[in-house]
Amino acid sequence: MDNKKLFALAQEAAKASYSPYSKFRVGAALLCADGTVVTGTNVENRSFGLSNCAERSALFAAVSAGKRAFQGIVIATPDSDYPVGPCGACRQALSEFLAPDAPVVFGCSYEKRVESTMGELYPYDSLHELARDQR
Ligand code: THU
Repeated sequence: MDNKKLFALAQEAAKASYSPYSKFRVGAALLCADGTVVTGTNVENRSFGLSNCAERSALFAAVSAGKRAFQGIVIATPDSDYPVGPCGACRQALSEFLAPDAPVVFGCSYEKRVESTMGELYPYDSLHELARDQR
């Protein structure tokens, strides 16, 4: 599936956002190795630190459904006027399952997007780097 379709799915997922505190909706579309897509949105809480980002919502839903391998992830932030990248916690969580060359795409719209990779956003992740050094 191409990034344009994935971006549309991420935008659709953002519509379900529960974000009464920040009023900042985020949607994520995670492309699984088997070609299926699992989406997620941010779910906030009045105890702010408990809020969950869209990326982790999608990842945890997918892993809970038995998925273990992923091709990439696309993130839509329709309430910003510039592309907002995944937070540090999400980079760590995603790096557990996405290879360093897996595409990570984020944008406030499809036209205003950044096309990056897991390894670019989270280098020296202590998982893949360690494996590479021990070869
Ligand atoms: N958020 C995400 O869901 N993903 C991101 O990549 C950036 C931030 C959420 C967390 C919080 O609910 C809101 O956006 C404002 O930070």
